[in-house]
Amino acid sequence: MSSFSHHNDQPFVSNSVITAIGTYVPERKLTNDDLAAMVDTNDEWIVQRTGIKERRIAEENEFTSDLIARAIDNMLDRYGSDLSDVDYIIAATSTPDTIFPSMAASIQAKYHIRQSGSIDIQAACAGFTAALQLANGLLLSGLYRKVLVLAADALTKITDYTDRTTCILFGDGAGAVLMERAKDGNGALLGAYSDTEGEGGKHVYLSNLSPSIGDFPIQTQGKLVQNGREVYRWAVSRVSEGIRALLQQCGLQPGDIDWFVPHNANQRIIDALCERVGFREEQALSSIAKYGNTSAASIPLALDDAVRDGRVKAGHTLLLHGFGGGLTQAGVVLRWQLP
Ligand code: UT7
Repeated sequence: MSSFSHHNDQPFVSNSVITAIGTYVPERKLTNDDLAAMVDTNDEWIVQRTGIKERRIAEENEFTSDLIARAIDNMLDRYGSDLSDVDYIIAATSTPDTIFPSMAASIQAKYHIRQSGSIDIQAACAGFTAALQLANGLLLSGLYRKVLVLAADALTKITDYTDRTTCILFGDGAGAVLMERAKDGNGALLGAYSDTEGEGGKHVYLSNLSPSIGDFPIQTQGKLVQNGREVYRWAVSRVSEGIRALLQQCGLQPGDIDWFVPHNANQRIIDALCERVGFREEQALSSIAKYGNTSAASIPLALDDAVRDGRVKAGHTLLLHGFGGGLTQAGVVLRWQLP
């Protein structure tokens, strides 16, 4: 099967395969009733508007690098992977414990990986799928053979628990995958897509050095600010166009996809994307009821739940599509090859 880039009509090339996956969510649960005791909300509103029933929340002394390490340990337990020859680490996160050292560098030290490049990327909820695209490029360049791709966020650390419009949404979690050069040269990635509408950045943001940025509506004081309605509108319109474009590039119909794994932001958005693109709702993997919106971690978490319970099988074709802060989106189609 050949696919083309929407950027330049060149054939899309991949020589990478995913050889292991692991995930982690913190033990502690935050239920809708817990939130109803903190702000003016209730279980019925949250379930109806978002599909979320509970989410996991990191301990006070538990940070993104800790979540990542637990996801890597889970991957090592299940697949017995060898990390000693990892030669590049990419960590996608918007909530690094420290800006530098990067989370990728911290993980290099923690796992005593001998010689490896390391970089954090920040593409909010599109981070995991953007990192898969970058890892594919690194492997194709010939410079690297084995890339550790990490995606994690501890959004509860930057959530304003006095704002009922955002605090009901977010949870913490982490995912890890290994991407390696395919032995036969045939990669598992069948296509990729990216798009950004930076003009809409002011609809979901977190300030860093400057508390008030351009025409962004309010100072964030280290907490995430979101105009949910605007992000929702963008997600169901421009993101659904992106998913359709990705399918078209790959010469695939929605029915050719075994599992659609969208960023889990809101069950209503997932259902609307299915309707607009033409997926049946049963094709979509969602773990939003259990974990809420975990940003970069949400795609690996939803995917891995289905890998563990046997829904996702070797040979299945998956479409993973991340979208969020930026506003940006990144999608990949891939053939799953793990048991
Ligand atoms: O991952 C990053 C990308 N982020 C997203 O994709 C988020 C996208 N947006 C959303 O998921 C939804 O917009 C929300 C879940 C954030 C909000 O749902 P909505 O259906 O868009 O609600 P709304 O903002 O239009 O608010 C409807 C009403 C308002 O009351 P009025 O003005 O109609 O009287 C809100 O004040 O619901 C009220 N409301 C709440 N009521 C009870 C807002 N939050 C709550 C709440 N509990 N937690």
